[in-house]
Amino acid sequence: MTHPAFADIGACVFDAYGTLFDVHSAVGRAGAALGGKADGVSALWRQKQLEYTWLRSLMDAHADFWQVTSDGLSYALASHGVEDPALHARLMNQYLGLDAYPDVAACLGRLQGGGKKTAILSNGTPKMLQAAMESAKLNDLLDHAFSIEDVGIYKPDSRVYQHAVDSLGIGRERICFVSTNAWDASAAANFGFKVAWMNRFGKEPERLPGPLSAVMTSLEELPGLLGL
Ligand code: LAC
Repeated sequence: MTHPAFADIGACVFDAYGTLFDVHSAVGRAGAALGGKADGVSALWRQKQLEYTWLRSLMDAHADFWQVTSDGLSYALASHGVEDPALHARLMNQYLGLDAYPDVAACLGRLQGGGKKTAILSNGTPKMLQAAMESAKLNDLLDHAFSIEDVGIYKPDSRVYQHAVDSLGIGRERICFVSTNAWDASAAANFGFKVAWMNRFGKEPERLPGPLSAVMTSLEELPGLLGL
């Protein structure tokens, strides 16, 4: 049944990393040399990558997401006592071909089939996003891929969410935003999007402003919320 918050949605805008693409598939594919450190490195890599986006935005010292991702990986490897530039390069290369989660393609297809625009809004650079979409064969299922590089500051700055509104020409109240990252979901809701938080990992909601309209455990639920 259509969820009232999503009764008049024109476009669905998705976060990329962690929502459509599995960031941990990089270490899963190319991190065998890490042995028992693999999970710890992957988790710390992601944590530092995100922290550096927030900190660089506050410091007014922007560097693109490729650089921030590389810096986060350097920190994670060094923290686990790993000094291996070739491994660093192999893991970074995996970021251009991350696995998409298995529920992504069917969800996007149903949304497009129901006449909704589909888009990514991500911290990733245009090159990173294009590579990931091509590798996961999602190009035809996504009408747009919006990068914060066109804004010059990272999520959750409200100018990032406004960029999607301006680019789509659809009012914020008619945009359904989907993110696994609870802080991104809250910020997008605080901005005025209708947000379906994709709680893939059974996390606590953040104690942040921004009312979430729905919580999902699989993207399979999304078309139904929109009445498709
Ligand atoms: C992104 C990060 C937040 O894709 O996952 O923007």
